[in-house]
Amino acid sequence: MSVKHYIQDHKERFLQELFDLLRIPSVSADPKFEADVLKAADFVRESLIKAGADKVEICKTAGFPIVYGERIIDPTAPTVLVYGHYDVQPADPYDLWDSPPFEPIRKKTDLHPEGAIFARGAADDKGQFFMHIKAFEAMVQQKELSCNVKFMIEGEEEVGSGHLESFVKENKEKLKADAVLISDTSMISLKTPSVTVGLRGLAYMEVEVTGPNKDLHSGTFGGAVANPINTLCHMIASLHDENHRITIPGFYDKVEELSQTYRKQLNQAPFDEGFFKEKLGIGETAGEAGYSTIERTGIRPTLDVNGIWGGYTGKGAKTVLPAKAFAKISMRLVPHQDFHEISALFEKHLKSIAPASVKVKVTTHHGGHPAVVPTDSKAYQAAEGAIMEVFGKKAIPTREGGSIPITALFQKELGLDPILLGFGLDTDAIHSPNEHFGVQNFFMGIHTIASFYKHFGKKLP
Ligand code: BES
Ligand code: MN
Ligand code: MN
Repeated sequence: MSVKHYIQDHKERFLQELFDLLRIPSVSADPKFEADVLKAADFVRESLIKAGADKVEICKTAGFPIVYGERIIDPTAPTVLVYGHYDVQPADPYDLWDSPPFEPIRKKTDLHPEGAIFARGAADDKGQFFMHIKAFEAMVQQKELSCNVKFMIEGEEEVGSGHLESFVKENKEKLKADAVLISDTSMISLKTPSVTVGLRGLAYMEVEVTGPNKDLHSGTFGGAVANPINTLCHMIASLHDENHRITIPGFYDKVEELSQTYRKQLNQAPFDEGFFKEKLGIGETAGEAGYSTIERTGIRPTLDVNGIWGGYTGKGAKTVLPAKAFAKISMRLVPHQDFHEISALFEKHLKSIAPASVKVKVTTHHGGHPAVVPTDSKAYQAAEGAIMEVFGKKAIPTREGGSIPITALFQKELGLDPILLGFGLDTDAIHSPNEHFGVQNFFMGIHTIASFYKHFGKKLP
């Protein structure tokens, strides 16, 4: 039997095992789910052992543990390091889900005639790193594993991977590899396979604006005392100009202006603006003047308010001029913007534009550096070969807007350019209600990963 047949013969079991993993609500952001996050780590550990890893450990960190597993077949064979994350985003708001987020079900959709798995984490990232464990199992069982394999599956990606940097720095020898594979991104479609070659970075800030020393009656004081919510809105509105460029001084200083040739090539990737608008229910797209949607999300930096609150938001009406207003604001960064520098510029600018009527406090949550990966490495070529074999088409290199902080960290600390071999679709609703992952995407992913090893590994007898 071959690896291909093994995967086909065990299809149902693979899905059932993934469902078991998806039933664990491993939400890293919410302390309420702490035990479940640990349970998910244990599930990953068990899965690696069952799949054929010969050394598996749960590595403690100051936060959630990193599950490490390896199988060394031959010290002279190439080594592949697989990264993924077993934690998921909160499932809120629950009432917008058509089925409960931690009770996975398989359902057909327009884009997934063979069905998709609906659950929090289905695509981000449980369904995706699980493809690697199953491809590994198939290769081990069929005695076709041609590389040494190391797995590193973490539990804090969705909260900024706070303890990852020290782990990578302290375990360089353990993590030593010839290639890194990460499946935590999307492709254009199953008909148009792509490999992600760039991700944006992130700087996530929180702003607190304080006006008067207590909440005030909005009749007695309104009109004479600045309302911090009004002031915060005014400040936020001024952070973009009429061309939708960010007004923070120095923000664009290090942004690389890409050549017309590169931009043209980027825009050649199939993209249907009408379909994009229709899927999102929007009348028009919006963003920085002079750039296409592909460029706005792939190669240009942004600033977005993620949440804003203050004053009275309960039932009915209460007339109040609140003492405080708050906002969470994040910026997506592109090469060579440094998230520490950008965070500092943001803080300085917000303080400089604040009127004397308010005090402004700015704090930095997490961040991550942007990354671009070259397309001429041996590993990238192996990925291209694998996609050609499974999809019958040459992969298009794309730049995606999301962030995976470990990408730049692996480049810096291990000197390796990760291959961002993702099999999700932009329509998978990650971080959103009704997240799903195509069953066909899952299996084509497993086949592609197995084929990657064939292209990258040593020649088997
Ligand atoms: N898998 C995503 C990143 C992603 C999404 C890359 C879509 C490409 C396309 C990852 O789990 C994620 O959500 N990252 C966070 C950043 C993190 C520091 C919280 C993000 O991008 O918001
Ligand atoms: Mn992810
Ligand atoms: Mn995510």
